[in-house]
Amino acid sequence: MAPTRRRLVLSTTRSAWLLLLVAPLSLLATGANDFSAEPESSASFLSPSNDQSGPQTPFVFSGDDVTPLDAHHDAQQDDSTGQDDAEHLEWPLNPLEQLHYALETMQSRYFELWLGQWPTAIDWTAAVMATLVSSTLHSLTRSMEYIIAGSEQRLKEGQRIENEISLYFSQVVAYYFGEDAFSLRMEAYDDMLWVVLGWLEAVKFVDMHASRHYKSFGPETKWYGRQFIDAFAHRAHIFYDLASEGWDTELCDGGMTWNPRLTPYKNAITNQLWISASVGMYLYFTGDDNSSPFMTSSAHSTGDIPYARPHDPKYLRAAVDGYSWLRSSNMTNALGLYVDGFHIRNWGKNGTIGTGNCDKRNEMVYTYNQGVLLSGLRGLWESTGNLSYLEDAHTLVRNVINATGWKGTPHHDPQEPREPPGTPPKWSGLGRGGVLEDMCDSRGNCSQDGQTFKGIFFHHLTSLCTPLPLQPLVPGKTYAASPAVASLHRQSCKGYAPWVAHNARRALKTRDNEGRFGAWWGAPGGGAGTEQFAPEAFDVQLPAGAIDYRNNKTLLLLPDEGDSDDESIWTLPPDAPQPEDGMAGVKDANDRGRGRTVETQGGGVSVVRAMWEFVDMYKREPGS
Ligand SMILES: *[C@@H]1O[C@H](CO)[C@@H](O)[C@H](O)[C@H]1NC(C)=O
Ligand SMILES: *[C@@H]1O[C@H](CO)[C@@H](O)[C@H](O)[C@H]1NC(C)=O
Ligand SMILES: *[C@@H]1O[C@H](CO)[C@@H](O)[C@H](O)[C@H]1NC(C)=O
Ligand SMILES: *[C@@H]1O[C@H](CO)[C@@H](O)[C@H](O)[C@H]1NC(C)=O
Ligand SMILES: *[C@@H]1O[C@H](CO)[C@@H](O)[C@H](O)[C@H]1NC(C)=O
Ligand SMILES: *[C@@H]1O[C@H](CO)[C@@H](O)[C@H](O)[C@H]1NC(C)=O
Repeated sequence: MAPTRRRLVLSTTRSAWLLLLVAPLSLLATGANDFSAEPESSASFLSPSNDQSGPQTPFVFSGDDVTPLDAHHDAQQDDSTGQDDAEHLEWPLNPLEQLHYALETMQSRYFELWLGQWPTAIDWTAAVMATLVSSTLHSLTRSMEYIIAGSEQRLKEGQRIENEISLYFSQVVAYYFGEDAFSLRMEAYDDMLWVVLGWLEAVKFVDMHASRHYKSFGPETKWYGRQFIDAFAHRAHIFYDLASEGWDTELCDGGMTWNPRLTPYKNAITNQLWISASVGMYLYFTGDDNSSPFMTSSAHSTGDIPYARPHDPKYLRAAVDGYSWLRSSNMTNALGLYVDGFHIRNWGKNGTIGTGNCDKRNEMVYTYNQGVLLSGLRGLWESTGNLSYLEDAHTLVRNVINATGWKGTPHHDPQEPREPPGTPPKWSGLGRGGVLEDMCDSRGNCSQDGQTFKGIFFHHLTSLCTPLPLQPLVPGKTYAASPAVASLHRQSCKGYAPWVAHNARRALKTRDNEGRFGAWWGAPGGGAGTEQFAPEAFDVQLPAGAIDYRNNKTLLLLPDEGDSDDESIWTLPPDAPQPEDGMAGVKDANDRGRGRTVETQGGGVSVVRAMWEFVDMYKREPGS
């Protein structure tokens, strides 16, 4: 496996313009000394005024070990697995270039323009893929700043990127028409809310791109992409309204129900999506006066939908109430991670609602349950100015980083005995060796759902860490940060950057020779050479009291429990080694099970984008 060798055969023109875009990572070394990455277990995001114990100290990471993002450390990062990858990857890595390849592979390999779909995706994972494309475009349009202001030559490069952005944006538009909105409206509430987040992301991108690059043309020249905003907003509106029926007060004093047709399950994902989508509607929804529920000629028409206005306080209220319920729901475990959700004891017995309380907890932990809330909490801060939302978000991020076993640096700890090759570090709750993992990743039996989770986490982490505005986005409706708060947030996020970069680099190593990402980023050596792995490498025990609804095929297909009655999410590519077959004959751990899919590619796009955005933070001055 030599993914980066692909660079050598790329056209020089493309490499050249991409290289113009970004300073190589080594330039960042100047900024690298001011962070160190050991999150203190007691650290929290505190505003200076609340902090009695000294200026900013509880908040700034204070490990002794400094982790500059440079080639030397990258070469050493795999010591813990006994593999030296220095010669397999060229450093410094250009994150924007890597992001470009990841997206290009995803779209050229998995997107079918004539269908407006990723045909191998299912409805909800397709909604997530579209979200990832829009957010990547958001990053690309910001990268254009370097170009537009420059010389004639650079202007030309700018046009090249503009063309690239148009290419992928037109695919997002094609997906708008390819999305199966009819089947989605019959699905679970979480499925609907992914749709809302996806179209809000598209609205955000269009607005950003148009206002950054087309304002100077004057009011009579609008970027053509603007014409789609009303359609995107309409789709978001429809699905938000449909999903709002999932809020239920009969059981557990509130909270969203997962699926209207199954045994009541109030779970983390649906509630986090509700919070993020609600606050997203408050902040970004541009209003909708189109009263057609789905399509004008629909026989299924359920009547007109009411006009919806932008910045309606009802959206904010829903988000505040949603989080207040979630926060008091006792849904986090001893590591401070969200478990999957709650059933109601004795529900259905004797035709009753049982205790009516959320008192039967499923201890299963997934990466995406730690992610979606992060953008919601950032939005709640921006909509209310209440710092406790940001504090909670940073606490959750730190708990996740800790649960990957991150020691503050990718270095091998000399105190620990060297493991033989092929032995990954010990499982730490949500990963190992500083790399985020879902439990199904190393076992090679993730469902299509499970393959999508880590990309979701990194998407929302990146949203959280977008610099806080120093001016209100919408005066009178949203809040700005004081310079001190903006700086604290930024410093906090900078502290995560080495961990993010570590994850991205490990994900990049899982690519096959066609540039396709695998699911198990923590695999020693990226997963190749599996035959020499120690059996423990694949072994992750579910926590006591955990039910893996998302990956257990038996459960997923049970009529009262599962999310899906569709066998197809289990369909494996022909000839794929089945996990039950053990590892005999398998050369790459990431070819097992469903193998490489659009979902694992989306995960790659998302974590590489996160790397680019976090690295970019080093270059920006506070608040700019
Ligand atoms: C929270 O949930 C855990 C695990 O189910 C349980 O042990 C604990 O008693 C609960 N705490 C409260 C305050 O309900
Ligand atoms: C950090 O993770 C370790 C397990 O790797 C756990 O023992 C410890 O309690 C965690 N710390 C916090 C603050 O959650
Ligand atoms: C169900 O009804 C039976 C008979 O009335 C009663 O003994 C039992 O406690 C009830 N169970 C629950 C869970 O309410
Ligand atoms: C800030 O938000 C928290 C919930 O995270 C809430 O408990 C608190 O009352 C809020 N503070 C204000 C001033 O609204
Ligand atoms: C996944 O694979 C592991 C290891 O082969 C096995 O123990 C486990 O039961 C499988 N899990 C599911 C949900 O099928
Ligand atoms: C999957 O779910 C079934 C049905 O509840 C259960 O019997 C089985 O042990 C589960 N398998 C795993 C690997 O968790």
